[in-house]
This record gives sequence, structure tokens and C-alpha cells, in this order.
Amino acid sequence: MPGRYYIETYGCQMNVRDSETIAGQLEALGFEPAARAEDADVIVLNTCSVRERPHHKVYSRLGVLGRLKRRRPDLVIALCGCMAQIVGDRVAERTPFVDIILGPRNVGRFAEALAAALASRRCTILRDTTECVPEGLPARRRPGLSAFVNVSYGCDNFCAYCIVPYARGREVSREPQAILAEIESAVAAGYREIILLGQNVNSYGRTLTPRITFADLLAMINAIPAVQRIRFITSHPKDCSEELLRAMAELDKVCEHLHLPLQAGDDQVLARMGRGYTYEHYRSIVRRARELMPDIAITTDLMVGFPGETEEQFRCTLRAVEELRFDQAFMFKYDDRPGTRAEAMAEKVPEPEKLDRLARLISLQNRLAREINEAQVGREFEVLVEEVDEKRPGYVRGRTRQNKVMVFAGDRELVGQVVRVRAIKGHMWGFQGTIVGHQSVPF
Ligand code: SAH
Ligand code: SF4
Ligand code: F3S
Repeated sequence: MPGRYYIETYGCQMNVRDSETIAGQLEALGFEPAARAEDADVIVLNTCSVRERPHHKVYSRLGVLGRLKRRRPDLVIALCGCMAQIVGDRVAERTPFVDIILGPRNVGRFAEALAAALASRRCTILRDTTECVPEGLPARRRPGLSAFVNVSYGCDNFCAYCIVPYARGREVSREPQAILAEIESAVAAGYREIILLGQNVNSYGRTLTPRITFADLLAMINAIPAVQRIRFITSHPKDCSEELLRAMAELDKVCEHLHLPLQAGDDQVLARMGRGYTYEHYRSIVRRARELMPDIAITTDLMVGFPGETEEQFRCTLRAVEELRFDQAFMFKYDDRPGTRAEAMAEKVPEPEKLDRLARLISLQNRLAREINEAQVGREFEVLVEEVDEKRPGYVRGRTRQNKVMVFAGDRELVGQVVRVRAIKGHMWGFQGTIVGHQSVPF
């Protein structure tokens, strides 16, 4: 049957990586990418369940795709990702035209599910969160210089508000050899920056024998000659160790950027979220990271309106943001997720109140982010040039080691190079700059 496929990806980088694995399997079967969903023979929605809004989007997409399928009964529609795990049975009932429902832990079995769905013309459902994702799966990586590489799957933390452990199952670390082999093949294909993925990278290695830490893994990756930059997401404050901060400071390829979700600035709220740290502990990690790496950028996730959060407790989050001065923050209002502990908590914060808190938080953080970047005007940064700026002819864009966007005048030949750029204007999103020199590139 090979024809064309189209994948729509929602949610986080884990899903982006999973979509690459689905695309890899489809291409191994002879499928080619389609430019638009309407032109495809297989349409995949790789979905997210972390908040309510992505669900609505996917239901409305399913409505559109159902109409498409009435005109083209041979079309194959697959629902993958976290929503498939959480509400897959309901989707199978409500939208019987969906052919494949595949949970995130079963992403390696996409080809098998497709074969079964085509043979039976009935909905094939694979949703087993105890399964391990097999090694050595084909991947069609997204274009560019950065490759996503999983270090672990799943999460064991069960923060009170969070659906991820239900969607992605228990935490399992990959063997270091498998990770290193994947990185070797990514750099052989031209990728230069490795972005390691895990819900809590700091707990990497706990399930392995012999035990190895995330810092050990970083050192092994740092030793691969063609790797130029190493990044990782996400660090959990309760497991963010001195050993990790030292490794970041010592290993030349590990970038000076730490994404460390705080969630809330009040200890009672943190305790009811089940986060396992206090604000003071969080603050001590930030202090130590900045001591070891004065250039480091620290970014975070923040949530407002957790059940029972008072105005006073919310103000602790505002105070934390002022005190810690995050380079960037992803800010959300709390949403109930089915089956979580927080869903069952009383004292829900009314929707207008949550929206009001979110708006106040965003406006504070935006002001600080601009201030932080404006204060760095005049400094020079090492920039990996990633692409030409499509909106501004004659300009290119890249990222500093701190993961900030830098836009500057330059031509296509610079893409893939590491250059020195001086910041000439600071914005909320990053910098405009001017190139001051090429750097010798170590490969
Ligand atoms: N593993 C990462 C977070 C993954 S989810 C960590 O622990 O830091 C990404 C972010 O979504 C979370 O940090 C949190 O801020 C937000 N989030 C998770 N569940 C949510 C919910 N029920 N409502 C609103 N935001 C939520
Ligand atoms: Fe969710 Fe907490 Fe796990 Fe992050 S650590 S994925 S917020 S349960
Ligand atoms: Fe990621 Fe959304 Fe799942 S944030 S882990 S795709 S619920």
C-alpha cells in the first residue's frame, strides 16, 4: 500500500522524538512524507494530555479527519501519544473511524499496528505502559543541527497535578551503550547538538546495573569528538545534585543552561503538589549553579491556581520570580487531569482568578526577561548558527550556549558554524547581534 504520510505533533519534545520514530517506521515501509494532511494516505496525530486545551484541539482535528475519511475510506488515521493512552478507549467509541490507537510506550510497534489495522480494517489498540521501547528503531529526524535523544522513558514522581506518569508509565533508563550508539549515528548524519530527554534526567541510571549517574553519562557523551554541544531537559529540583552541577561546569560541551521547573514559590503548595523540595532548597541549587557557572541561564516552569492556592501563596511565586530572575519561564494555569490526586482536591481556584494570576505572572516575567537580556548588551556569545532568518533576508539565527536566540547579519554559509557574536540589542526573546569572529571548530 505504500503512499504518503503526514504527522501532526502536539506537546513536548518527547513527542517530537516519538514522531521521528513513527516517521522512521513509515519510511522503512516505503511511505513518503506528504506536504499536507489532505494529500496523505496515513495521518498520525501524536497527541498531548498534559493540559485540557490540546485535547480540544485534537477532538476538533478528529472531526475534520472523520469527514475526510468519509470521502476517502482507505485513509488510515492513527491517534498516538499521551491522549491515546489516557482517553484512547473513549476515542475508539466516539470516533470509530480511527484505525490505530497507540500509547507512547508502544511507539516502536507503529508498523505492526498499521499492518494489523490494514488487515482487519478494525481499530487496532496498543496501550501497554509496562512495555519497553525497543532499541535500534529507525528514525526520520527533524532537519537541523539538534538531535533529540531519550535517556529515559516514563516518570515515577506522580506530582499531584500531573498526568504524565499515567500516560508514559514507570521510569526506565536506557542503557548507556544504546544512548551512545544513537548519538554516534546522529552525529554521523550531521547533527551537532545533542538534546537529552527525560521527564527527570537527574534520576537517570537508577534502574541500571551497574548503576551510573546522569553526570557519568554526560562525561561519556562529552568524549564523542563530533558532538559539539550537549543540552538536557528536564531537571527535577529534588534530584539535582552537586555532582551534576560540577559536571556541567567541567564538561566543555555541556551548555550553561539549566531548565529547572519550580512550579510554585510557596512551601505548602509545593508540599501538596508532592514536589519533594522546599523553596529554600530550590534557591540553594540556583545559588550554587550560578556560583559554579556565572554565565548560566536558568529557566523554569511555573503553575498558578493549584487547588487551595491563596492569593498570598501565589504572591510567593511572584516573589520567587523577582528574586531568582529566570531567563525564561513557561507559565501555566492549573488544569484538572483525570485520575490525578489534585483532581480530587477540594478548594478549586475559580477560573477567572487563575487567569488573573497567570496574566500578572506573565507580565512580571516578561519584564524581567527583557531586563536580563538588555543588561547583557555588549557581551560576546558563542553562537551555533542554525538557519537563515526567513523573515529577514541577509540575516541568520542561532543560539547561544545559554539557549538564547541570536539574530545577526550573515549569509547561508554560516549555518552549521560556531561564531562569536556581540549582543547589540536585548529583547524578551533573545538578542540582535553583530558577528565579531569565527571560532576554530573542533571537528
Ligand atoms: N517532567 C517535567 C514536566 C513535564 S510537564 C518536570 O517535572 O518538570 C511540563 C509542565 O507542564 C510542568 O512542569 C507543569 O508546569 C505543567 N503541567 C503539568 N501538569 C499540569 C496541569 N495539570 N495543569 C497545568 N499545567 C501542568
Ligand atoms: Fe509530571 Fe512531576 Fe513527572 Fe514532571 S516529575 S512529568 S511534573 S509527575
Ligand atoms: Fe509530553 Fe504532553 Fe505527554 S507534555 S509527556 S506529550 S502529556
